[in-house]
Amino acid sequence: MTPLFTISLLLLATTAAATTAASRLCSNITIPVQISSRQGLFKKFPILSNFETQAFSQDFTRRAHNLTQELLEDYRTLEGDFNISARYCRPEVAASSTIQLLTHGIGFDKTYWDLSYNNWNYSYVEVATENGYSTLAIDRLGIGNSSHGDPLNTIQAQAEVEALNEVTTKLRNGQVPGIDRIFNRVIHVGHSFGSIQSYWLSALYPNNTDGLVLTGFSPRGSFLATTVAAWNLHNAFLNQPFRFGFQASLPYRLSLNEENNPLRPPPPSLSYQLGLIEKALKRDGYSFTSEQLWELVASTEIGNIVTGFNDTKAPLKYPPGYLTTSDLTASQYVFLNPGFYDLGLAVLSEQTKQPVTTGELLTLGGFPSFSSFAGPVFVFDGDRDQPFCGGDCYAPTGTSSENIAAESKSLFPAQGVFGAYLQPNTGHGINFHYNATAGYHVIQRWLVEHGLRP
Ligand SMILES: *[C@@H]1O[C@H](CO)[C@@H](O)[C@H](O)[C@H]1NC(C)=O
Ligand SMILES: *[C@@H]1O[C@H](CO)[C@@H](O)[C@H](O)[C@H]1NC(C)=O
Ligand SMILES: *[C@@H]1O[C@H](CO)[C@@H](O)[C@H](O)[C@H]1NC(C)=O
Ligand SMILES: *[C@@H]1O[C@H](CO)[C@@H](O)[C@H](O)[C@H]1NC(C)=O
Ligand SMILES: *[C@@H]1O[C@H](CO)[C@@H](O)[C@H](O)[C@H]1NC(C)=O
Ligand SMILES: *[C@@H]1O[C@H](CO)[C@@H](O)[C@H](O)[C@H]1NC(C)=O
Ligand SMILES: *[C@@H]1O[C@H](CO)[C@@H](O)[C@H](O)[C@H]1NC(C)=O
Ligand SMILES: *[C@@H]1O[C@H](CO)[C@@H](O)[C@H](O)[C@H]1NC(C)=O
Repeated sequence: MTPLFTISLLLLATTAAATTAASRLCSNITIPVQISSRQGLFKKFPILSNFETQAFSQDFTRRAHNLTQELLEDYRTLEGDFNISARYCRPEVAASSTIQLLTHGIGFDKTYWDLSYNNWNYSYVEVATENGYSTLAIDRLGIGNSSHGDPLNTIQAQAEVEALNEVTTKLRNGQVPGIDRIFNRVIHVGHSFGSIQSYWLSALYPNNTDGLVLTGFSPRGSFLATTVAAWNLHNAFLNQPFRFGFQASLPYRLSLNEENNPLRPPPPSLSYQLGLIEKALKRDGYSFTSEQLWELVASTEIGNIVTGFNDTKAPLKYPPGYLTTSDLTASQYVFLNPGFYDLGLAVLSEQTKQPVTTGELLTLGGFPSFSSFAGPVFVFDGDRDQPFCGGDCYAPTGTSSENIAAESKSLFPAQGVFGAYLQPNTGHGINFHYNATAGYHVIQRWLVEHGLRP
């Protein structure tokens, strides 16, 4: 046997032994951060009803307009204390001094990286820890179990980048409560908006990152209008009232009240409507098959409205201005490649989705035009990515780059090590496609081969 062959066999044996889910230790932690963020002060606009959220989308996507510019009244420095909720995992045996800091994209939270579904078959964290890395997956500022805030003028991209930078510094200094060690190297791994923020951090604080893995990313903003239109954004508290907190709406008054809209049809009595549904379901000779009922619930907003009631859990309470995709079909357009994703997982992700704020939408395009970071950068996209590739990353780019993901190289003029990879048959929501973890192994291998071993 040649030595090389022996080594490959050994490597294979290690990988095979490490595939059980039990080989890592995880804990949930809360990280206090103090941030100072120079950001926009936007003029308020009505955003209470779903008619108004759609008007916002119309204004946002209007051709040859820049809503960010139109609403911008001033800049100000936001200063404040916030909590970042995170889940820390480390390999049970190895004590790695390199950590991957995972930042999720719009529509998700920290659980994007570590789903227990199908025996951890869709878990980035599982793959990274198997390969010897520690991970910290955060809920971005404003989202999930991290501090929430005013969706227009507090929860903006820049504030989230500052929070991410604070978390990074605390990891390096051993100041994260619940993690009793320091990390010499922090690799920033993002998905989508989380990749934009990881890139943004590298531009503002090039010293504070040792490597970037940008999944679901490219420098192109030109598909954003299609994305926002396809989402069919609704207020989170109206879309999933039980989970996102109908209470959040009580202090507000929907603008479509009778006073403002005398011609509005009278409000439906909920018990009358429910009674009609019950009658229809019971009517002789008339019934849905369970498949039809499943389709009716899972593929329409009915599924959202009924999801999430749990009398042991407090709703998340997102105020108006926290928006979300209307239903799973809207999410499919942006995130999923039909035929190649796990439908059960997609339904679960719709039930556990997270919102986007108006402030995030108005500021996510404000990232610096280049980063002086000179370390390793790996861009990893689904080849059918919609929001960053327009549905086909291989389509002619009109540039010298071989595909749209590879165009990201132009953001890093310092010309460090750069790689781009397109995961086959995969949409923007990489994690929900059958073959996701095979792609995650590609990422770990790339890191090891480019100076970022655990
Ligand atoms: C920790 O957070 C995960 C979500 O990231 C959740 O599923 C789990 O229940 C939490 N565990 C505890 C003990 O709070
Ligand atoms: C829109 O306006 C904002 C604020 O002035 C600016 O930062 C941004 O670059 C503009 N976007 C485009 C695409 O011109
Ligand atoms: C952060 O969470 C802790 C509880 O873990 C709480 O006491 C504190 O007030 C929170 N801080 C902020 C700024 O919300
Ligand atoms: C992961 O999914 C694949 C394909 O669906 C399946 O063959 C495999 O058994 C699954 N693995 C685990 C650990 O469930
Ligand atoms: C959410 O945060 C609170 C404190 O801010 C903490 O007590 C709780 O464990 C966290 N839950 C999860 C799931 O992270
Ligand atoms: C951070 O980077 C700057 C250049 O951008 C350099 O001058 C400085 O010495 C670096 N600081 C540390 C602590 O590495
Ligand atoms: C409600 O949440 C708890 C955890 O907080 C969970 O154990 C339980 O399964 C949930 N119930 C439903 C109906 O989802
Ligand atoms: C699964 O992903 C791996 C890594 O990108 C790739 O080599 C393989 O061809 C993919 N398999 C399929 C069936 O797409």
